[in-house]
This record gives sequence, structure tokens and C-alpha cells, in this order.
Amino acid sequence: MRRALHAPRRLRDEVIRLRQRHLWRVIGNGFTRPVLDRWGFLREKRFDGINRLRDIAGLTLMLQYRPGPVPDGHWSPRRINALVRDLRLRSYLEIGVFEGETFVDVTTRRRFGVDPNPLFDAVYLPHGAKFAVMTSNQFFATIRRSKRFDIAFVDGLHTVDQTYRDVINVFAHLRHGAVLIDDTVPLDEVSAIPDQAESYRQRELAGLEGRPWHGDVWRVVTLLERHHPELEWRTIIGDGNPQTLVWRRRRGTHVRAMSGEVIEAAKMSSYAEEFADGVPTYFRATTEANALSDCVRSLRRARHWRHSFRVVLR
Ligand SMILES: C[S@@+](CC[C@H](N)C(=O)[O-])C[C@H]1O[C@@H](n2cnc3c(N)ncnc32)[C@H](O)[C@@H]1O
Repeated sequence: MRRALHAPRRLRDEVIRLRQRHLWRVIGNGFTRPVLDRWGFLREKRFDGINRLRDIAGLTLMLQYRPGPVPDGHWSPRRINALVRDLRLRSYLEIGVFEGETFVDVTTRRRFGVDPNPLFDAVYLPHGAKFAVMTSNQFFATIRRSKRFDIAFVDGLHTVDQTYRDVINVFAHLRHGAVLIDDTVPLDEVSAIPDQAESYRQRELAGLEGRPWHGDVWRVVTLLERHHPELEWRTIIGDGNPQTLVWRRRRGTHVRAMSGEVIEAAKMSSYAEEFADGVPTYFRATTEANALSDCVRSLRRARHWRHSFRVVLR
């Protein structure tokens, strides 16, 4: 008799339990029904709510499926998307993704990210995105030799050794596109210290504000100038972070890596010496608009030549 009396309450408790389990799955997986959500539409609608709940549950946040227009202050996606649009590029590689601020805003159909410590859920990704939780060296050692990307953003470990290696590896997998290297012009001498912890320590000792760290990525441009006549580049100054845009002068040219001794030799001059009169001329500093249009014109011309050559051969 008592069991019968309590049946409605037990039924209600069971419904609540089922609903909580379902909700947990929604929060954990980031979407309701994987089949329905294959194209991300449900996820897109529920995105904000799900991330709020994931935050409360202590789970990493999910990357947005289809973000709104890129805010004007986001200079990296703005520059990358301009090239994507003008050169009709389809696949993008980002080395060093962090919170995914740039990664989510790039508009290519396919996106690949690499970072050993991403600050988002690297399992449930937006449609068309793939992610490798590993260092860039491990990534390039793992992928097929024939794997190709159209455009890449190199923003991983900010040292000359690693960034130069990343650039060379990217060119081995790059079709006829471009590579954007972040932080090629340090803010000051302290931000140019290659050791991040030491740079922060010196900044604190000097009583300087903020925590900008650019490392010695700038030496990559020195290496380009000294040893890579097959490449063309422009350093974008103004309207955002300084970045260097690099591309091949001629389609299909092999970009050969320099030896360890050559890289060591590039470390001989200091930031203070090299930047004594401002940004060195070999950085080929220019505005964002000029750098992008030079790159687009040069890559289009190379495409055009290739096409004409084919026509002549026929
Ligand atoms: C400056 S943040 C990247 C910011 C991001 N590109 C953006 O635009 O929002 C640098 C990232 O590089 C990652 N990183 C450090 N060493 C790396 C390596 N060897 N390979 C790939 N990524 C690395 C760090 O984990 C960090 O998340």
C-alpha cells in the first residue's frame, strides 16, 4: 500500500534523474544528438548556454562553430582572411592556438590546429576543424609527407630555433600560399629576451607594465635575408601586432633548412645593435594593405605564369 502511495514521487524522481543525466551529456558533449548535430546547427544555437554550463562544471570551453563577423581589433584573422578571400585558399594551419581566438575566426573550409596545451575542448571541434594536441615538431613528424596546406600562421614557441624550424616545416607542406609569422618585431629589449620566464623577471625588475614577450623570433627574418633568396616577405607594421608575411618567389621551389651553425651565427648580433635605428630595412616593413596586396599580386602572377606555360606546352 505504502509503495503504491509513493509511486508518483518515485516516478517524478526518476524523470528528474533521467533529465539530469541527459543534461550532463548535453553539457559534456556540447550538443544533443550527434546525428542531428553533424553540421553543427544545434550546437550553434545552444553554444552560449552550453559553454556557460561547461564553465560551471569546470570543463574546458568549446570552440564556436560559426562565429560572427571578425572584430576589427583581431588583426591576425583579418590579415589571413584577406588572403583566403583574394587567393581563394581552402586549408589553414595554425601552430600555437592557445584559446583559439584566431583559429575560430579564420574562414577556410578546412582548419588544422596544433598546440601542446590548448585552452579549449580539443575533442568537440567545429565542423571542418582538426586539432593535434602535441608540439609542432611532433605534428610534422606524424603527418603524411604529401599533406598540403594553403596558408599557415606560425605562432607557437617564440624562439628563433623553433620558429625557424616551424617555418621550414610549413613550407614543406605548403601549396602555393603564404606563411604569417607572429611577433617578428619585439616591443623592446626586454620583450626580445628568448627565455620567457627571464623576460618577465627582467620586466618586473625594471618596473615595466604589461607582459609582452616576443622572444627572438625576429632573428628568423635575419635568416630569411641571409639565406633564403627563394622567399619573399613583408613585415606588417601598424594597425595591430607586427607580423611577417612570407611566400615563395616561384611556385614549387624547395625551401631548404639551414644548419644549426648557421642559426647560431644569426644569434651573434643583439636586439639593441640590430634595432638601433628602428626596424632594419631587410624586414621590408610596410603597411598591412601593401603587404597583403604585394603577396596576392606575386602569388597570382606565379599562378598565371604556370598556367601560360602549360598552354604553350600544349
Ligand atoms: C601566443 S599563443 C598563440 C595564440 C594564438 N595563435 C592566437 O592567435 O590566439 C602561443 C601558443 O603556442 C603554444 N606552443 C608552445 N610551444 C609550442 C610548440 N612547440 N608547438 C606548438 N605550439 C606551441 C602555447 O601552448 C601557446 O598556446
